This record gives sequence, C-alpha cells and structure tokens, in this order.
Amino acid sequence: MQDLRQQLLKWVPDHEATLILFHFLRKKNPSLKNFADLQLFSGEIANDTKAAALLVAQERAAGIPLQHLLGTQFFLNHDYQVDASTLIPRPETEILATHIIEHARRRFQSTRSFRFAELGLGSGILSIELLSAFPGASGVASELSFTAIALAEKNLNSIIGNSWSSRFLILPAADPLQGFEALVSRGPFDVVFSNPPYVAITDEIEEQVLKHEPVTALYPLNRDPNFFYENFTRHAASLLTPSGVAFFEIPHERAHEILKHFQVSGFAESRLIDDLTGRPRVIEARRQK
Ligand SMILES: C[S@@+](CC[C@H](N)C(=O)[O-])C[C@H]1O[C@@H](n2cnc3c(N)ncnc32)[C@H](O)[C@@H]1O
Repeated sequence: MQDLRQQLLKWVPDHEATLILFHFLRKKNPSLKNFADLQLFSGEIANDTKAAALLVAQERAAGIPLQHLLGTQFFLNHDYQVDASTLIPRPETEILATHIIEHARRRFQSTRSFRFAELGLGSGILSIELLSAFPGASGVASELSFTAIALAEKNLNSIIGNSWSSRFLILPAADPLQGFEALVSRGPFDVVFSNPPYVAITDEIEEQVLKHEPVTALYPLNRDPNFFYENFTRHAASLLTPSGVAFFEIPHERAHEILKHFQVSGFAESRLIDDLTGRPRVIEARRQK
C-alpha cells in the first residue's frame, strides 16, 4: 500500500491520497471501518484497483472535485452520494445540521413527533439527518433541480429506507424566482430550515466551484443574495407555528444585515451562531420569546 500511496502523492496532497486509498480499499475489504484501519492494512492490492485509484488522483489534479470522482461525501453521520446536480455537502453546513438537531432534541424530547420544512433539498443532507435522528419526525422539502431530486431520493432510499415517503414529501419548485411559496400550503411547521443559494455577484468564489457546481445552487437567480431570507420572512406567519423556529445558513459577510432584517420583520428572538473559525454561519429565529 505504501507504494500506491507514494504514487498518489505525486498527484494529490496527503489527506486526499488517504481518502482515495480508503475509498478503493474499503470496496474490496469491508473490514476496513475507518482511516485508522488503513495503517494496519497489509493485504494485496489488485492491479485494477491501483489503476483506478491512480486515475482518480490524476483527474483530481486536473481540477475535478474529489467528491465527484468518488461519488460520495461523508456528512455528519452518513455517507451521501453526490454528483454535479447540486452542491457538494460542505463541512460548515454541519453547524446548521447540529443546531437543528439539538434544538429538536430539547424541544420534542417527550414525543419526538414534529413537522419540518426545508427549502433547497439538494443532495438531501439536512432533511435526511433530521429524519434519521427522529423517527417520529415528518417533513416537506422543495427543490428546483429534477436531477438533485433524483440524487436526494437515492440518498433517502439508502439511508432512511424505502418507506421514507410515508413521512417525507419532495415538492419540485416550479419557478426559480419563487421561494417558500411552494411550502406555504403545507404549513405551518414546527421547524423550518434552509441552506439557500446566497452568493452575491460581487463575492469572491473559487474558479473550481463555479466550474463544477450548479449556478442555481450558488446564486439566487434574481441576483439578490438576500432573496431567500426576505422571501421567508414575508411568508413566516403561514410557515411557522406560533412557537416555531427557523434556521438558515448565512454568508458571514452579510450576517448582521440578515439578522437586522429578521429583527425588523417581527422575529422577537433572533441570534447568530458562529462556525469553528468564529464567523457567523447560522441564524436561528423565532417569532415568540
Ligand atoms: C446551497 S444548495 C443546498 C443544498 C443542500 N441543502 C445542502 O445544504 O448541501 C441550494 C439548493 O437550493 C436549490 N434551489 C435553488 N433555487 C430554489 C428555489 N427557488 N426553490 C427551491 N430550491 C431551490 C438548488 O437547486 C440547490 O440544490
């Protein structure tokens, strides 16, 4: 294995070489459960596995995201299938997911039965983590891209199981210039959340992200980076139960502007939650104290 690692390191940095080795070796050696097991691996590696791993490293060096080459990304508690139809799950989105889950644990401890809504399902990471953590929860999510919906359905099948549709409904969004309107008729919900497209035209964005991830997952199509936050507050009375709580991922550059918008829109209690780098990453907002 050390020979193969040395060859991979000619193309990719150390942590990506580890991810590639783990991905290919685990396929044929299910006893490999975690990265630490890689250190102990002493089995033979077939030539076709070596060639496939090397090809991935070379394509990665040419700029293709590793997640697209391996077809998978780990998020919070599960492996998710990923492809070019939606955003690759980001580690910082785990901040949003864990806050929603902690909130639900505190609030619904006794019954664990509640209803939630998500705008912008993507690969499904947020709704699926919630469905998986709370077997009594049910929800609705909207999504603009039909290919993203197909991807989320694969993740629902593999993580939640074939009966997911008994407690989860996906609504295709008919119009990119509409937002929460698609969810209003199904409300009100106990929890509403979203990691919406929020990049502004003037924001710096990596060339590789622009090249490989869909523009509709990054930018609101009307080019107003606050569109989905403002669209939500306009519909909040129909979307949230009186004690309902909303959680959004936000761009740290505009965090205080968004917080102010929630405060003047009648959210009695709104707060920003920082990510591990100390920058505001999530807004939590409720209409009642
Ligand atoms: C930033 S991605 C987030 C995906 C996923 N929830 C995550 O956190 O990785 C935003 C998603 O919103 C979808 N989207 C964009 N405009 C939308 C709209 N008007 N209604 C519903 N979904 C929309 C995009 O297709 C994309 O999948």
